[in-house]
Amino acid sequence: MSSVLVKDKFFRPYLTVSEISIQVERIADEINADFKGMQPLFLGILNGSFIFAADLFRQLTIDAEICFIKLVSYKGTQSTGHVVTSIGLDQSVKGRHVIIVEDIVDTGKTLSEFLPQLLDQQPASLKIATLLHKPDALVHPLHIDYIGFTVPNKFLVGYGLDYDGKGRNFKEIYQLTEEG
Ligand code: IMP
Ligand code: MG
Repeated sequence: MSSVLVKDKFFRPYLTVSEISIQVERIADEINADFKGMQPLFLGILNGSFIFAADLFRQLTIDAEICFIKLVSYKGTQSTGHVVTSIGLDQSVKGRHVIIVEDIVDTGKTLSEFLPQLLDQQPASLKIATLLHKPDALVHPLHIDYIGFTVPNKFLVGYGLDYDGKGRNFKEIYQLTEEG
């Protein structure tokens, strides 16, 4: 693998296809064991998680369902600041064992603002699975139950993650170079 140019920035190979699939399978094994005999509802957060969610979901042997939602965060004019709106949660989560699927937890803002909305709907349990976690970037405390890779605070693309909409289709994950 060699470095790639995405728009105006250079990225170097960081995680290979096989490194990624090993961790996806490990997380699936853990979930298969933890949710044995249950029917959890996976909730993929669009756009970034669609590839991880698809690969993870195919490794499940339990009786599971999946749906996707899109979270939009924006700055309001109120002093309350950012608001997160859920689009497309068309399924009831009341009484369900819910597993949120994220591509990456960075500052934790998106999820920490969305979780109370979800908890209001009284799921039976709520877990978070993320392929990537940048603990150094985390400013909103969040308990993450399943983590593929703990990574440094550097920008990544590939395997669903984008730089300005580009690079999601890369099979590997690439890291922004120092030179950019
Ligand atoms: P958070 O609310 O700061 O945790 O942001 C999480 C979201 O930001 C992720 O779901 C991604 O969509 C995006 N994001 C954070 N870090 C990266 C990265 O390194 N590459 C691409 N997208 C990222
Ligand atoms: Mg995302």
